[in-house]
Amino acid sequence: MMKLDDPVVNQMRDAASAAMNNAYCRYSKFRVGAAVLTSDGEIFAGCNVENASYGLTICAERNAIFQAVAKGALSKTLQLKALVVVTPTEKLTPPCGACRQVIYEFCEEADADIFIFGANNADSFKLSVLLPDAFGPKDVLGQ
Ligand code: THU
Repeated sequence: MMKLDDPVVNQMRDAASAAMNNAYCRYSKFRVGAAVLTSDGEIFAGCNVENASYGLTICAERNAIFQAVAKGALSKTLQLKALVVVTPTEKLTPPCGACRQVIYEFCEEADADIFIFGANNADSFKLSVLLPDAFGPKDVLGQ
């Protein structure tokens, strides 16, 4: 488990905060930023993007992951090592269920560290704690 005060986690937090400032959240007014760290040591960030057809909204976490995939930085072999979520609120925001499943897709072997930062505090978990007994690539492809 990486530490909350690890310089790389701090770098991820900065990247997530910068993306959070670009959140497109005109309906909920709930800003979220996220950043992922890949096994190659690269960081990618994303924000939530809402839509007038509410159900089409994408969370910050999945946006950050898809940015990394589009750059070829997450794949069958390049795993997701850690993910940071940032909100400007007192209450911490853990990844939603859909995002937990998408995180698992890219860290089946790595069991990612999840860090959540609010305005004044933070917490951390292993993905396996947030999503125990996950269904993933191994269940479809075998081993
Ligand atoms: N949201 C995220 O971006 N990540 C989460 O983990 C929880 C929810 C977004 C989706 C929507 O734009 C807004 O927050 C309110 O649900």
